[in-house]
Amino acid sequence: MIRPSVLGYARMGLAITLSLFVFSCTSISQTGNAPVTYDANTRVFRMDAAGVTYVLGVNEHEQVQTLYWGKRLSPGDAFPAARSPRGYSAFDLPITLTQHEFVGWGGGIVLEPDLKITFPDGNRDLALKYVSSSIKENKLNIVMKDISREVYVTLHYAMDAETGIVRRSAEIENRSDAAFTIEQAAAGTYNLPRGTDYHLHFLTGRWAAEWSVQDEAIRGGKIVLESRRGTTGSQNIPFFVIDRDISKDQEQGDAYFGALAWSGSWQISIEQDALQQVHITGGLNAFDFGYRLKKGERIETPEFLAGFSSQGIGGASRLMHRLEIDSIVPNAPNPRLRPVIYNSWEATTFHLDEAGQVALAEKAASIGVERFVMDDGWFGQRMNDRAGLGDWYVNKEKFPHGLKPLIDKVHSLGMEFGLWVEPEMVNADSDLYRNHPDWILNFPGRPHTEGRNQMVLNLARPDVRAYVMSFLNKLLAENEIDFLKWDYNRNWSEPGWSDVPLEDQKDVYYDFTKNFYSILEELRSKHPKLEIESCSGGGSRVDLGVMRYTDQDWPSDNTNPVDRLVIQNGFTYPYSPGLMVAWVTDSSNLPNRLALPLEFRFLSSMQGALGVGANLNKYTPEDFAVAKRLIAQYKTLRETIQRGLLYRLIPPEDGSERSATEYVSRDGKQVVVFAFLHSSIERYPYPTLKLRGLDEDAVYKLEAFEGKATNGVPATASGSYWMNRGLDVNMNGDFQAAGFTLTKVAALK
Ligand code: GLA
Repeated sequence: MIRPSVLGYARMGLAITLSLFVFSCTSISQTGNAPVTYDANTRVFRMDAAGVTYVLGVNEHEQVQTLYWGKRLSPGDAFPAARSPRGYSAFDLPITLTQHEFVGWGGGIVLEPDLKITFPDGNRDLALKYVSSSIKENKLNIVMKDISREVYVTLHYAMDAETGIVRRSAEIENRSDAAFTIEQAAAGTYNLPRGTDYHLHFLTGRWAAEWSVQDEAIRGGKIVLESRRGTTGSQNIPFFVIDRDISKDQEQGDAYFGALAWSGSWQISIEQDALQQVHITGGLNAFDFGYRLKKGERIETPEFLAGFSSQGIGGASRLMHRLEIDSIVPNAPNPRLRPVIYNSWEATTFHLDEAGQVALAEKAASIGVERFVMDDGWFGQRMNDRAGLGDWYVNKEKFPHGLKPLIDKVHSLGMEFGLWVEPEMVNADSDLYRNHPDWILNFPGRPHTEGRNQMVLNLARPDVRAYVMSFLNKLLAENEIDFLKWDYNRNWSEPGWSDVPLEDQKDVYYDFTKNFYSILEELRSKHPKLEIESCSGGGSRVDLGVMRYTDQDWPSDNTNPVDRLVIQNGFTYPYSPGLMVAWVTDSSNLPNRLALPLEFRFLSSMQGALGVGANLNKYTPEDFAVAKRLIAQYKTLRETIQRGLLYRLIPPEDGSERSATEYVSRDGKQVVVFAFLHSSIERYPYPTLKLRGLDEDAVYKLEAFEGKATNGVPATASGSYWMNRGLDVNMNGDFQAAGFTLTKVAALK
């Protein structure tokens, strides 16, 4: 057993200082993190912020153990030292019943471990013990080490002062003389208070149907949410929210939630053990994983963030949104409000030329669009999706004078210019592939499975990384491009990397994603004004990892405004409406060819970062007038929609034909309400909308910007009235949409 000692610290050679800070209050710190307190007598660490307390300690076996996570406690509530539980039977040893914060696979543990290593001599037993801790700038670092091997793991903790969300990662270091292979690595484990009525809510999906809300009771055994696709994927989203089975009201009850900041293959396992304790472990996907950590090297796992809300799932979403805007995205805590975009993809697909794009740009500018984006098809021999990916030079047939005249025109119309790229992909029919067939992910002598006629470049390779970085840098240096839509239109297949030693080949899972991030980071530092959208054939690469480098996200290629109500509802469980791009497109863009009112389409998209993707050449004067009016209206509401507090008043779930959302501005002065009815069934009146989050003692003035309230609804009333008596909306017929604002006009007292 290793205990911290002066000798021990000196031998560790790390700049670790055990700083024993004991705070009596938890004021918001400069760093944005809540203070960490440490009680040296009990070896208990504690973090408190917003409505949350998180407590952990070191037990008598030197294991790091969760002591409490949940609603904020009184500062005076003290915790005794952690004690490991007694074994229940020979089948359930203490190591398996302990609420570990981070545990190696060894010593008989049968639950999901945080770390699994194979050593070169064949040993696979890993027993990590507490060595030391330090608290710096309100960040807690706990060092653990194997009982005999020179494997060090530093657990990083920080609690966000505004939301109480805990941010965790683990850094694994090899200080032995030989390389070893990491076969599984998580950021850590979150343990729930014992309970048998937990309910997991999670998101599933596929192309054009992302973000479906699912729920499932947590019972004995394990639920695994994961991606084995090489990127985030949409089959599962790296997010969970767990509440107790009390109420269907999204605003009621306790909710635990979390998300992984990783854009590669990932996993979150939710496991109920033999004593009905629930453990949530998140990190790199263990399937087919390997990472050879050489002597002296260290790697850090993705961050696994988790929080607690006593305002149900709705409260959990609002805390996530706040963290994203205030701490995660570029320029946080003051990211720019999302400009209104026009994207020409659905209008022109691959049939691009300067005159056609200029014509659309002029029309887009006339309705108030702020950024014009030219999508796929401008480069190489890209006449369709069978050729050109990889050849990132301007197609001279389509743009004989290069992009400059178009870009200048767009700028002269007062808009920014954006361009589509898909940097990690290559078509077989491209110069890049003809010159570098070895650059793709593949196993020599085996098929290269194509998806959308393309293959994935092995971005883990230094030469591929250099190529991608250099063409993007050149493109941005030579053209005044304000924005990139960065796409990624397939999953991995045959993930081989044959030109490195056999033992290093599985490093591809980690190195690919790290290189992806490092390119984004380098591009942003070289081109500080550049903004980027994360797109992956729709919403297959949206996560807190990519969000650190991207300003907005494309949730789905499905732009049908009715489907979008469902898709957008799911998106907002973990992610902010202020990051969610939503285009208004044409009625005829999908197979069911629904002819929907333009107002319905606009209001559906106004619930996020509004964009237009319609063929404006087909707009009538009436359409232009509606578009212009609603874009102008949106600009007066967007700060509330993009930054405010979201309440999903009627989620379009369980087949509901209705959907309603409410957004309250951070200063509480403006409230925006959207209500939708897609199919009127038996002409029942629309349910009364009982608003949330208002000041009971203030007066709010109601105004409709689309549709209307039912006769008799007052023009002004108290917050208490709107929250308890509620708002009756006049909706009759199919595809109805209404939008309201409530403005705080006075205090009652
Ligand atoms: C993907 C994107 C679309 C569009 C096309 C272009 O499907 O999600 O928005 O950019 O690629 O090929």
